[in-house]
Amino acid sequence: MTQVENKPAAYDTPFVPIEKIVALCKRRGFVYPNSEIYGGVSGIYDFGPLGVELRNNIRRYWWWSMVQMNDNVVGIEGAIITHPKVWEASGHVENFVDRLVDCKNCKRRFRIDQLPEENIIQNKCPVCGGELTEPRRFNLLMETYLGVVEGERMKTYLRGEACQNIYLDFDNVVKSTRMQIPFGICQIGKAFRNEVTPGNFLFRQREFEQWDLQFFVHPSEMQQWFDYWKEKRFEWYEGIINHKERLHFREHGPDELAHYAKKAFDIEYQTILGWQEWEGIHWRGDWDLSRHSEYSGQDLSYTDQNTKERYIPWIVETSGGVDRTFLNLLLDAYEEEPDPTGKEPRTVLRLHPMLAPVKVAVLPLQKNKEELVTTARDIHKTLQRLMVSQYDDVSNIGRRYRRQDEIGTPYCVTVDFQTLDDGTVTVRERDRMTQVRININELPMYLLERVTWQ
Ligand code: GAP
Repeated sequence: MTQVENKPAAYDTPFVPIEKIVALCKRRGFVYPNSEIYGGVSGIYDFGPLGVELRNNIRRYWWWSMVQMNDNVVGIEGAIITHPKVWEASGHVENFVDRLVDCKNCKRRFRIDQLPEENIIQNKCPVCGGELTEPRRFNLLMETYLGVVEGERMKTYLRGEACQNIYLDFDNVVKSTRMQIPFGICQIGKAFRNEVTPGNFLFRQREFEQWDLQFFVHPSEMQQWFDYWKEKRFEWYEGIINHKERLHFREHGPDELAHYAKKAFDIEYQTILGWQEWEGIHWRGDWDLSRHSEYSGQDLSYTDQNTKERYIPWIVETSGGVDRTFLNLLLDAYEEEPDPTGKEPRTVLRLHPMLAPVKVAVLPLQKNKEELVTTARDIHKTLQRLMVSQYDDVSNIGRRYRRQDEIGTPYCVTVDFQTLDDGTVTVRERDRMTQVRININELPMYLLERVTWQ
């Protein structure tokens, strides 16, 4: 896919407050609070009509880049519920914990790993200076029960990280496909965490979606593949954002590595929340397949077809969040710019055209001229077979452009009186607001070239 290229040259915006994105998402149908009529549930959200389109586009583009475009990668879709032993083997039952302290004075709760060091040393609340309690450990796994008879129900967990299915299916994939090491397995799927401090809208949720590549290698090739995927993933994110200077790598210090990782880099993106993880590149080594071999009693080692060497493959993991991508893309794309005609400012989402939820809006110049309306409806009918198209004839043309700008629609097609004479329409581009005249017959190809990845 081509890089974002539509942005005007002078494009330097301040960080967007999260509240603006929350308000836009609710107003225009991207994201709604879950169970809102009951007061909502912290850290859980629903996606509205535009949100679903954007999410699907984000997922599809990841899948296209990672699975479809790589001969050495295949995809799976595993279940959310697994055998409970999976989570013992993975180390999550023992290690997937947050350590928390409470302020005895103001009763606020903090994760120790998020407290400034001086507050930990002095045992002082960063807000009111009150004394902090002894740290307590909370496991993040969400419990659930299989079976209906009390006493016979089996306790298990909603998956705390989506990637575990990939290790569970590794041997099946090797046996049912012709994949040979080095190769990768991808998956997109929901994960669940009892986050103690959910917040910042979609950034830290309790139910969210992850995408993972688990790339299986011979130990001697680990470094080379780790470097390869680290760079590839960085380029991928660079390709879908406007503010490329807000993306960087950060290596994990020894005391912050997850229990399964020997080495890790985060791809971080800078927003009003500061630099925050967007995706993790993890050196998982032989941790996962060794542990599942040990706990299941099944040998998950791999035999090289050529050398006959038998070994436990090592794993490079690239693990990111669909929801965090959704949020970061909105924060990256949102802009309020002064109206050149001096009226109210224009809110525009400069989303990559290939990810934008609606690709084109078809607008008759006037709603009371039947021929304009009929022609515009016909164009919309043709285009909606190929891409998400909206027909809109409500209010004046300027307002309709604004409505589309605000949801990131890259192109607006206007049917005017000249259309009735010569069969051409105007195509207005979202970012520069430039207009070109195009023959109706050329419209599908003109738009497809600009809104699909290839
Ligand atoms: N399998 C490795 C793993 O789960 P992680 O760093 O805990 O690693 C990977 O999660 C990605 O999942 C993060 O980079 C982030 O994008 C996303 N993520 C993690 N926790 C999240 C949460 N509570 N809400 C939304 N996204 C989350």
